[in-house]
Amino acid sequence: MERTFIMIKPDGVQRNLAGEVIKRFETKGFTLVGMKFMAVPRELAEKHYDVHKERPFFSSLVDFITSSPVVAMVWEGEGVVSGARTLIGATNPLTAAPGTIRGDFGISIGRNLIHGSDAIETAKTEIALWFGEDELVSWQPAASSWLY
Ligand code: TYD
Repeated sequence: MERTFIMIKPDGVQRNLAGEVIKRFETKGFTLVGMKFMAVPRELAEKHYDVHKERPFFSSLVDFITSSPVVAMVWEGEGVVSGARTLIGATNPLTAAPGTIRGDFGISIGRNLIHGSDAIETAKTEIALWFGEDELVSWQPAASSWLY
């Protein structure tokens, strides 16, 4: 089953939006298989955003992600990688559609609340970077066939 890596960034935690974000993934019908509340070591943040290391915003992005705790999660479900990106909305919260997490709660690209893997291959890399196999729980929600 497809999985994706989701992180509630420091601004989402500081603004007490963790529950709201988790609720949106739950009620959409995706399944939580891993979650931890953690301070992010600088080395991990740098690896996670390695693709952006030449960009001008790289060091401020790493500063921000390491500034305060995050909620790191793995969610599972059919089409969860692109489905999560749809729930999250565009990178810039100002132009993200209303109804999306960024569209509903943000105004600044540097404070856009949440990260979600952008492709299936990226999701595999990010999950392996953030979680050990023993931290992920495979389980079957009861009666999912008639719930959704
Ligand atoms: P990116 O991977 O392009 O966006 P997304 O998170 O939607 O996949 O960029 C990673 C993060 O970098 C983004 O969430 C916020 C930050 N960022 C900036 O601070 N300034 C920028 O101009 C861009 C493009 C991104």
